[in-house]
Amino acid sequence: MKVSDRTSGVEYVIRDIISYARKYESTGKKIIYLNIGDPVKYDFQTPPHIKAALIDAVMKDENYYADSEGVPELRKAIVEKESKKGFSVGDSDVLVTNGVSEGLDMSLASIVDSGTEVLMPGPYYPPYSSYVKFYGGKPVEFKLYEDGRPDMEDVVSKINSKSRAICIISPNNPTGEVFDRKGLQQIVDIASEHNLYVICDETYDSIVFGEEFTGIGRVARDSPIILLNGFSKGYLMTGWRCGYICLNSDSRKLDSLRENIPKLARVRISANLPVQMAAIQALRGPQDHIKEMVHKLCIRRDYIVKRLNAIDGISCRLPRGAFYVFPKIELDHRWRDDREFVLDLLNSTGVLTVQGSGFGTQFGAGHFRIVYLPNENVLEEAMDKLESFVSSSSK
Ligand SMILES: Cc1ncc(COP(=O)(O)O)c(C=O)c1O
Repeated sequence: MKVSDRTSGVEYVIRDIISYARKYESTGKKIIYLNIGDPVKYDFQTPPHIKAALIDAVMKDENYYADSEGVPELRKAIVEKESKKGFSVGDSDVLVTNGVSEGLDMSLASIVDSGTEVLMPGPYYPPYSSYVKFYGGKPVEFKLYEDGRPDMEDVVSKINSKSRAICIISPNNPTGEVFDRKGLQQIVDIASEHNLYVICDETYDSIVFGEEFTGIGRVARDSPIILLNGFSKGYLMTGWRCGYICLNSDSRKLDSLRENIPKLARVRISANLPVQMAAIQALRGPQDHIKEMVHKLCIRRDYIVKRLNAIDGISCRLPRGAFYVFPKIELDHRWRDDREFVLDLLNSTGVLTVQGSGFGTQFGAGHFRIVYLPNENVLEEAMDKLESFVSSSSK
């Protein structure tokens, strides 16, 4: 039977690689999973007061459809959070979604037409390009310097009459790099000059190491900014699926979008109600778990970066946020590309990572992504295996 041509462009390497892992596991061998950015699968658990709020909501029979735009009290709590980060937003400019993923889908569905080009940082989180392609558009990668700053010459050279939006992911997945104030300002300025939307994903805003996070709100003024954020990572609610879209209240250029995005929200009825009740408590309740999580992650980051840089043929920058590293591999004659490297590593050692080219063929190729959420013992075992794999391959 025929399936739509649209779906053929859809891919998600982070999960697609699992089929190879299953095959490997079916031979009775053990896998070390370093491929999915889900802290709740490792030793990070949803804080008890958030779990209690979910149970409470269910037991109080808050199990019906919510308002399509989201529970009013949650929208208020989101306004409080994002306003503190400097973003200008009122309750009516917040839309609660089933994860940031749905927020991204709705945003791109609302602005991408056939032939539209959307600029995104190279490398980027794969659904950005998948959704753009799904809606008939073309993803265009722009270059980031190694420290995460955008190469503005490259950005400018890629803007044309078909461009409609520039995406920012900060901290970024897969590099863990963070846009600084100057980089954000440069993107916002160039987008305003060329009448482009800015989609800014701050999913990892609470997971930054040793520095204050700067949100896009600090430089937004009246620019057409669509801010995406959610509860999966900082509040350890991955499986519950809750996120949101905020539109810059000071931007008149967003007025049509303000009318149109809620239509998509109505078609899918609503986000999960008991989870929204728990999300209110996530934002308003104790925040201690964040500090503990960042502390634990910082130790794991330092460990993995040190181990990676000690391997001949691998080099890795110290990321400033999130929980990923994106090392570069010297492929030379040993592997045809990063995908072959990742599959060879899996089949030889059981260590499962993701090929860099899945995060953008132009700037992701020649790298692989490692999730450093597991505890130090697991990371040590994985790094020992990687080290002997690379050194035996060079003989
Ligand atoms: C940059 C980025 N945005 C969005 C998401 C998806 O988040 P959610 O679980 O809220 O859909 C992820 C998940 O890894 C991510 O890394």
